[in-house]
Order: sequence, then C-alpha cells, then structure tokens
Amino acid sequence: MADKAFQKCINPDCAAGFGLTDVIFSCPRCGALLDVEYDWDRIALPRKMDFFEHRWATKGLTVEGRLDFSGVWRFRELLPFAEPESIVTIGEGRTVLEQNDRIAREFGMKPGRVFLQYEGLNPSGSFKDNGMTAAFTIARLLGRKRVACASTGNTSASLAMFAHKAEPEMQGIVFIGSGKIAYGKLSQALDYGSLTLQIEGDFDACMKRVREVADRLGIYLMNSMNPFRLEGQKAIMYRILEARDWNVPDWVIVPGGNLGNSSAFGKAFAELHQLGLVPRVPRLAVINATGANTLYTLYEKRGVRWDGGRIRNRDAVGALYQHFDDTGYKARTVASAIEISRPVNLPKCLRALDVMNGLVREVSDEVILEHKAMVGRFGFGCEPASAASVAGLHVLRDEGVISPDETVVCILTGHELKDPDATVMYHTGIDMKSVAPPEPKPTYGRLANRPVRVADNLAAICAALGEPNVG
Ligand code: F0G
Repeated sequence: MADKAFQKCINPDCAAGFGLTDVIFSCPRCGALLDVEYDWDRIALPRKMDFFEHRWATKGLTVEGRLDFSGVWRFRELLPFAEPESIVTIGEGRTVLEQNDRIAREFGMKPGRVFLQYEGLNPSGSFKDNGMTAAFTIARLLGRKRVACASTGNTSASLAMFAHKAEPEMQGIVFIGSGKIAYGKLSQALDYGSLTLQIEGDFDACMKRVREVADRLGIYLMNSMNPFRLEGQKAIMYRILEARDWNVPDWVIVPGGNLGNSSAFGKAFAELHQLGLVPRVPRLAVINATGANTLYTLYEKRGVRWDGGRIRNRDAVGALYQHFDDTGYKARTVASAIEISRPVNLPKCLRALDVMNGLVREVSDEVILEHKAMVGRFGFGCEPASAASVAGLHVLRDEGVISPDETVVCILTGHELKDPDATVMYHTGIDMKSVAPPEPKPTYGRLANRPVRVADNLAAICAALGEPNVG
C-alpha cells in the first residue's frame, strides 16, 4: 500500500514528491502546502460507490470489522495510505445526515431539500475525529511518542482522546489560548490526560508556537496543515453521498476557521470526479464569522483566487496580514471554534473553492446564535461555530443564490454540549463564566490534570514541557 501513496507539493510549478513518512508540513523546495497523493492506476478501486454498502454490517472486533465500523475507513480504498493492521481507529465517523424539513420551511425551501450532517456525533463530539484517525495512523507508523496541536478546543479534545487510545499510548500536548476555549472542550483535554498548555495569547499565537516547539523537540504536529488529517476528513463527503444513496447534493455549506474541512471536501470531490465515481461536483459555500472573516475579505472583497496553482492577488493576503500586525487586530467571535485570523489552509481552501465553484459569506454573532437556537429547536442542536453553516444557508436564500428546490447539506461540525455556556447565555442572559471562580482552587482528585499557564514565549513553553534547556 505504502508504495502507492506519497506526499506531493500542491504548487503545480514545483509538484515535488516526498515519501509518506517524511515529516514535513510544507514543501522544503518552495514552501507550499502538501497533499497526500495516490498512484490510482495501481490501486484496486470499486467501479461504483455502492460497493461500500456491504460494509455496513459490523463484523466484530476483527481488524476488518473495526475498519468497516469506522465511517472513515470503510472507504479505505479512497485514502489508501496505510495497511489495515496499522490503522488507529476509535470508531469515528458514525454520524447522521438528517433531512430537516422544518428548517427548509423557515427558509422557504421545499421538503427534502435541507440536510444537516451531525459531525458532533463523533466520539469526541466534533468532526475532528475523522482527521485524527488518519493523522494518528501516520504518527504511529513513524513511532512518535508525543503529538501536539494548537486548538480552539475541538482539535485538542480529539487529539487527547486518540493519544491515550493509541497503541502504544502517546503523550498528547495541546496548546490553547487564554480565555476563549469553551469549557466542554477544555474539560475533555484535561479528562483524557493531555498536557494542556494555556498560552497567554490567542489561537494564532498558539499555532505559531506549536509549530516552533514541534520542530525543535521532534514532537509530531497534528494540526490540519498535516495533510493526513485532511485525508480522513474527506470521508465526511463520502458519508453524505452514502446517506443520500450516492446522489450528489447541489450545495455543501461549511463553517470556515483554519479551512481544513473545506480543503478536504474539495480534494474529496476532485478525486471522486477524476476517478469517475461521481457524475458532478456540488457547489461549496464557506461561512466565516464576521469577527474572523479573513477568507471572506480575501475571496469576496479582494479577489484572491486559486488560478491553476498560482494564487491570484496574492499580495492582498500579505497586505491584510500586515494590517493585522499594524493595528494589533485580533479575531473576535462568540463562535470561538472559528476565532482565527490567519487560516493555515488558505491556499488549499482557495483550490477547493475553485474545484467546487464556491463562494464565501460572513455572518454576525447575533445571526449565528439565532441559527444555533434554530438547530436546537428543530434538530439535534450544535455548537455556535457549526450554526454558521445554517446561517449561511439563510443568507444565500435571501440573496436568491440558492433556490427553493436545490438540495443543500449544512455541516454541523460540533456537538451542542461543547459550549453549553453559549446556549444558557442565549436563553437566559446569564453569563456562566462570570459566576465561575476566576482562579483555580486546589483539587484533590487522584487523576487531576491541571492546565499549565504559560507565557507566550518559546523558552517558557519548552520548560513547561520538561525541556528547560531548549528554546
Ligand atoms: N467548527 C468547529 C466546531 C470547529 O472546531 C472548527 C475548527 C471549525 C468549525 C472550523 O473548521 O478549521 O476546518 O475550517 N476548530 C479548530 C480547533 C481550529 O482547534 O478545534 P476548519
């Protein structure tokens, strides 16, 4: 299997290839992001997507049974980079696509047109598990003992869960910003036993630090610039097709943060189309929060595009980031999961928007919370960032971009219980954080695992990791 898969630079002018187990997160020759690529001609592929249906019944805890149970690995021919025995799986991806006619009616759409994909039903409560199963598989192949990520909460929860479930167990290290993590997510990283570093800074600062520290200390990086994460996240699209009896929807709508999901969806459809496994590609809408609208600004206002491998108006990206530096701009939104100003997967997301004839919209916090309440009232609920997708559908209906009889799938990325404070605040006006004690009190639990508060400084972070002489 391994000789049929490799890593490849996404820049077509470079297109350098690298081994599967080369630990690189950007092209050493030109600096662009990397894809996992396959030698499809040498891979036995199903002729039609309904081939995958025979795997629905589970066959116990055998290797094959565990892979068939996974909503990622039952499509293993479409991410063929690992031998079955080497795969790390915790039963991720058993999610639900719900037809929601109540929400369709709210937006003046016909019954059977609006579908909600509940990725919050994953074991750690968000879509991240789809990608972690793939990234952990590689981490284990590489023999890594320590894995790390920066996170607004869900990546860290997922990493922490997989780290202690992997065989052999790995140490999870998570970098979270101060203040802005939802308690449901923080509680998971602590409970699953990861070393939790609470950096004095925001997500973008955490992202910069984790890259530095991983590089210095040889810790394996699990954020979504790790291309294996995105391989796993492609499976969200396969499951949508599966639930729709392999009918391609007209639209897929997804919240945009670090832009891993949107990038993965574009890759999934580009490959399925290239392999003749789908007749057409749906359109993609990526929804930013107004307070974290880098993609919206660049794509819709500054004309930044993927143009056959080159980024058109690339200077606008540098100019916007310079403006962030000059003004001390920080992203701010109630949808803390997507409170990100420098999305690492920007080029891949632009490529996905190109492949899927996409567009980008922004929605305010108020609108996000109204639509979150709507998903709670008429569906199974979701966390604030996830509701951006439903809010985005509303905007696109109002604009007349989406018509009443088109079929739309909104990706609900995280579970309602990830951020109960936001829900209680919406319904009662009570800010639970303001009644919580500001400083931690002593704890007596045998397994108590406190977050470690650290300055946004390399030496301090290395010291907190038990490596005082590095940094
Ligand atoms: N929705 C939720 C619930 C998320 O947790 C995230 C990202 C997104 C949407 C955005 O997805 O990055 O693929 O565009 N959360 C990351 C984290 C950043 O650290 O948990 P994206």
